[in-house]
Amino acid sequence: MKCRMCGEKAAINMRQHKLALCREHYLEWLPQQVQKAIEHYRMFERDERVLVAVSGGKDSLSLWDILWRLGYSTEGLYIGLGIQGEADYSLTSRDLSQKFADERALKLNVVDVRELYGATIPEAATISNRGHGKPCSVCGLVKRHVMNRVARDGGFGVLVTGHNLDDEAAVLMQNTLHWAGGYLVRQAPVLLSTHPGLARKAKPFCRIYERETAAYALLRGIEYIYDECPFAVGSTTLYNKDILNTMEGERPGTKLQFYLSFLQAKEQGLFAPQPPASELNTCLTCGQPTSAPGTCTFCRLWEKVRAASPAARSAAGSPM
Ligand code: AMP
Ligand code: FES
Ligand code: ZN
Ligand code: ZN
Repeated sequence: MKCRMCGEKAAINMRQHKLALCREHYLEWLPQQVQKAIEHYRMFERDERVLVAVSGGKDSLSLWDILWRLGYSTEGLYIGLGIQGEADYSLTSRDLSQKFADERALKLNVVDVRELYGATIPEAATISNRGHGKPCSVCGLVKRHVMNRVARDGGFGVLVTGHNLDDEAAVLMQNTLHWAGGYLVRQAPVLLSTHPGLARKAKPFCRIYERETAAYALLRGIEYIYDECPFAVGSTTLYNKDILNTMEGERPGTKLQFYLSFLQAKEQGLFAPQPPASELNTCLTCGQPTSAPGTCTFCRLWEKVRAASPAARSAAGSPM
C-alpha cells in the first residue's frame, strides 16, 4: 500500500476514507481534519484560551499535541481520581500527562480528588452508594464538575475533551436504543454555555476514529497509558463499541455515517430544541449550574461522604 500523496510506503490505510498515507503525510493530515472540525462546528476561535482535559490516554494527549502544533493557546487539566487497578491506573496516567506537558513546556493543572475532597472516586462511590457498586457515575459527575470549575475559574474560553468518533457513536447507539430524547438533543460536537457558570465544551475529535488517534500517538511517539480504566471492563460502552467495530469491519464508514447522519437529522429538526437557559438554577453551595433548585448533585455527594468519613471532613478543600 502506497501513500496517496507521495507514493512512499503507507503507514496507515483508512478504508473508511479510501485513503492510505505515509507517516509524514498522516501527521499532517490529522491536524488538518481537526482544524476543519473546529471551524465547521465553531468550537473556538484562534484567540481563545483552551483547557484540554487529559486522562493520559491516546485521545486526549494526541488532541493536546495537535492543538499545540496548530498554535492554539492551551493548558491541560488532569484529574487524579484515585483509581488503582493492576498498573496503578491513576498514578501512571498522571505521570504520563505530566511528562507530556514538561516535554513541550506546557502547563498541566492537576486536581487530586482525594487531596481536595478527602476521598478517592471508588471510596466516594462506596460511601454514597451511588452507581450500584460501580464508581463510573460518581466519576463522571466529579469529572464534569471539576472540569467546569477549572475552566470557569481559569477564564478559559472553552473546555475540550478527547472524545473520539468511536466514543460518540457508542453513546449515540445507547441513546438511540433507549430513544433517550433528552440525551440525544444534548449530544453534539460543541455545547454552548447556557449559564454564566458553565464553560463551553467541545470535542474536536468527534469525527476522528479511535484507530486514527491511536495511530497518531504511535507515529508521533506520544507515550500514553494503554490500559482502560479497570472499571470500564464489561461496560455497555465497550459492548456497543465492539458491535460497531464488527459493522465497521464489514462496511467501512458505518460509524462515521451513523454519527454524521444523526447530526444532520438533528439540524433538520428531528429533536425539540434545548430548554432555555433560564431553566437552569445556581447551586447554593458551589455556584455551578444545576437543574433543580438548591444544592447540586456534586455538593450533595460530598456532604454525604463527609458525614460518613472523618478523613473527608478534614480534607483541605471544600466542594467549591
Ligand atoms: P473517558 O470518559 O475516560 O472516555 O474520557 C473521555 C475524555 O474525558 C478524555 O478524552 C479526556 O479528555 C477526559 N478525561 C477522562 N479522564 C480524565 C481525567 N482523569 N482528567 C482529566 N480529563 C479526563
Ligand atoms: Fe472513572 Fe473509570 S470510573 S474513569
Ligand atoms: Zn506520503
Ligand atoms: Zn454545588
